Amino acid sequence: MKVIKTIEEMRRWSRSTRARGETIGFVPTMGYLHEGHLRLIREAKKHADRLVVSIYVNPTQFGPNEDFERYPRDFARDESLCKQEGVDAVFYPSNEEMYRPFHKTYVITEDLSEIMCGVSRPTHFRGVTTIVAKLFNIVQPDFAVFGQKDAQQAVIIKRMVEDLNFPVKIIVAPIVRESDGLAMSSRNKYLNSRQRKEATVLYRSLQLAEKEYSGGNHDPESIKQKMRRLIERESGGKIDYIEMVDAETLGAPRPGEGDILVALAVYFNSTRLIDNTILKIR
Ligand code: PAJ
Repeated sequence: MKVIKTIEEMRRWSRSTRARGETIGFVPTMGYLHEGHLRLIREAKKHADRLVVSIYVNPTQFGPNEDFERYPRDFARDESLCKQEGVDAVFYPSNEEMYRPFHKTYVITEDLSEIMCGVSRPTHFRGVTTIVAKLFNIVQPDFAVFGQKDAQQAVIIKRMVEDLNFPVKIIVAPIVRESDGLAMSSRNKYLNSRQRKEATVLYRSLQLAEKEYSGGNHDPESIKQKMRRLIERESGGKIDYIEMVDAETLGAPRPGEGDILVALAVYFNSTRLIDNTILKIR
């Protein structure tokens, strides 16, 4: 497995891989890999001749008061996990390599980046689309795998790829959970033991939504209210948002037509956790 730190070398690697007629799969990450990431890597391996994983904590997707500095990092561990999974190349650039001093260009996916997570994190998705566009241009993959855990991110990336004609197929892989239902996240490490226990209520609130919906309650306001009550009763978490939207457009649900995304964000002190589920209409 190659560890590649410069854009030039990454490009050279991709060019020679393509020249051999091999396809390239890509899994972008911010490192501190857990089973959720590994599942994306395994999914990508199924489809590609060669697999690239990027490990880069992207500063532009963090707000000024967010956790960029303390975001967990452990490259040695990530490197050995990637090796075990049969990754061909890890792209591990520095900030200096990715953002030159006079960087001025950003990719913005309008509207979709302003709702849900975009309300409390107004510059977040601009950072995500910008770095993913840069990574696609550097790695030049045939396809890339993203997780359903970040449902809004996946919708936005698909929109960007279509709008800007990136020749990259986007695959979205299911959410991987701990045995008690908590969605795996590098940020779970910030939770103390009480918060860690209470955080399981997020998944239970999504299960409640599934139960209500399949039981015939198709009123988003009533479902959201029930979820809200459950979370407030069973945890000290502060709800950032609970939304029910069309799973493809993130617009208003289309009764009887598209699947519905139920998504939420909840703060446990300064730790913000997100989770979601899809209500299938049939
Ligand atoms: P990161 O949070 O490291 O996540 C990398 C990928 O792993 C994302 O596609 C995310 O949805 C997926 N993932 C994380 N936890 C998961 C889980 N429990 N189940 C399934 N998939 C999971 O998302 C980012 O990094 C960044 O925004 C990035 C796209 C790399 C751009 O910087």
